[in-house]
Amino acid sequence: MNPVEHVAIIMDGNGRWGLKHKKSRNLGHRAGLKTVEIVIKESLKLKIKYLTLYTFSTENWKRPKKEINFLFNLLEDFLLKKINSLIDNGIKLKIIGDKKLFTQKLKKILKNSESKTSLNTKLQINLALNYGSKNEIIHSIKEINKKKIKLSEKNIKMNLFTKDIPEPDILIRTGDTKRLSNFLLWQLAYTEIFFEKKLWPDFKANDYTKILK
Ligand code: IPE
Ligand code: IPE
Ligand code: MG
Repeated sequence: MNPVEHVAIIMDGNGRWGLKHKKSRNLGHRAGLKTVEIVIKESLKLKIKYLTLYTFSTENWKRPKKEINFLFNLLEDFLLKKINSLIDNGIKLKIIGDKKLFTQKLKKILKNSESKTSLNTKLQINLALNYGSKNEIIHSIKEINKKKIKLSEKNIKMNLFTKDIPEPDILIRTGDTKRLSNFLLWQLAYTEIFFEKKLWPDFKANDYTKILK
């Protein structure tokens, strides 16, 4: 087994890459999807067990509507097109974040993708979607109150969206920005952090393996 069990990634820099190369932030998001595929493939090769991808934050709703729509269309398209390949590769998909605000169509696609892959065990991909760590911690504390159990470290952990997932060994943030942007604040307490200068669409297999090795 690879001693690195769980890698979390803040996939940042799509917009800047798109503006620089294609005069369009959205085309940067499309280019970033290729890096997602590369990193999934490498993770399978390296026998990583959990890959958590920051895909859309609770703060990202502040972006222009056109960009938000583009991002969600890209996601829907990806899931519909790739579901069989995910299944064939033994990948289990899990959504972490608050699904309440999503359209019925997206909710259905997410539910379907999760249930069709639920028995797979090679690699678990956690898509952080409408995810915000502060929101997640509040959610956990509300659950604890509802269940009338003790407010403890263990109970906070057991009521996070990530309750069944070991804490990340490594966090990578691309895009030359050194902050956490409300990602996994609780779970990263002891994680080793790698800030990478390259923009996400420029991040390649060897950049990823270099960090892991
Ligand atoms: C990250 O890239 C991807 C998402 C937020 C979905 P950005 O869109 O934040 O790209 P930059 O940081 O503006 O270049
Ligand atoms: C973090 O990137 C969110 C995702 C990668 C989904 P942002 O670009 O949204 O973060 P900030 O705005 O730089 O903090
Ligand atoms: Mg950004």
